[in-house]
Amino acid sequence: MTVTINTLQQRKQNQETFTCITAYDASFTRLMNQVGIECLLIGDSLGMVLQGHKTTTSVTVDDICYHTASVARANENSFILADMPFMSFATVDKALTNAEKLIRAGANMVKIECGAWAADITEKLHQNGIPVCAHIGLLPQAVHIEGGYKIQGKTPEQAAQMIKDAKTLESAGCQMLLMECVLASTAKAVDEAINIPTIGIGAGPTTTGQVLVMHDILGVYPTPPKFSKNFMKASGSIQEALETYHLAVKNREFPSIEHSFTAD
Ligand code: KIV
Repeated sequence: MTVTINTLQQRKQNQETFTCITAYDASFTRLMNQVGIECLLIGDSLGMVLQGHKTTTSVTVDDICYHTASVARANENSFILADMPFMSFATVDKALTNAEKLIRAGANMVKIECGAWAADITEKLHQNGIPVCAHIGLLPQAVHIEGGYKIQGKTPEQAAQMIKDAKTLESAGCQMLLMECVLASTAKAVDEAINIPTIGIGAGPTTTGQVLVMHDILGVYPTPPKFSKNFMKASGSIQEALETYHLAVKNREFPSIEHSFTAD
């Protein structure tokens, strides 16, 4: 069955989960389809795991289009989410031009790393038929402002701000929300405050879906984050590792406390 935004929305309503993984090419997409992974993310993490950069900021719209088209050609039924890279949505006009390219390349939805400041951009994209996933919490594209990768939503004030931002983005037409590296209790509160499906990465077990970077799951990236898990270690094949990840998310066995951030 083809996965659409309605499938993911239904999962939220039914308190069921879904699995997302980064995908960059046709061969892995076929494997992910066979396993039944619902959502494929063409993430700008490709700058680090494919291109060998230290951050994601060198990734271009053309890079994401190339990999989105490669995934879309092989994809049969997963939902395709594509990243808007660094500076590609700095103005409403830029966002419209670049999001159009990603949708034409085969994406079903675009993801923007943002806060409530992007409400007008979200609204314009939505009005033009482009579904938006807002990525909040840790924003890797802002690494040079933050001076590193840090846990988000740690204080009550930060948690309240995150809830406020999420509500603003939902009201602006955002149809999915991704939270990265967020204190598990804060992510839970954000998820409960909005009606759209959420995806977590390092955001505890209560978001609707979970996402991980494929190279971390397969143990081929040398410095994986604490919240990720190498599913290849206990598997005999890549397909088995993907299946184990998918099942662990489905049964809510992943992420455990070990792969989440808690207050103590
Ligand atoms: O680029 C990416 O892979 C991402 C995930 C880390 C969520 O945005």
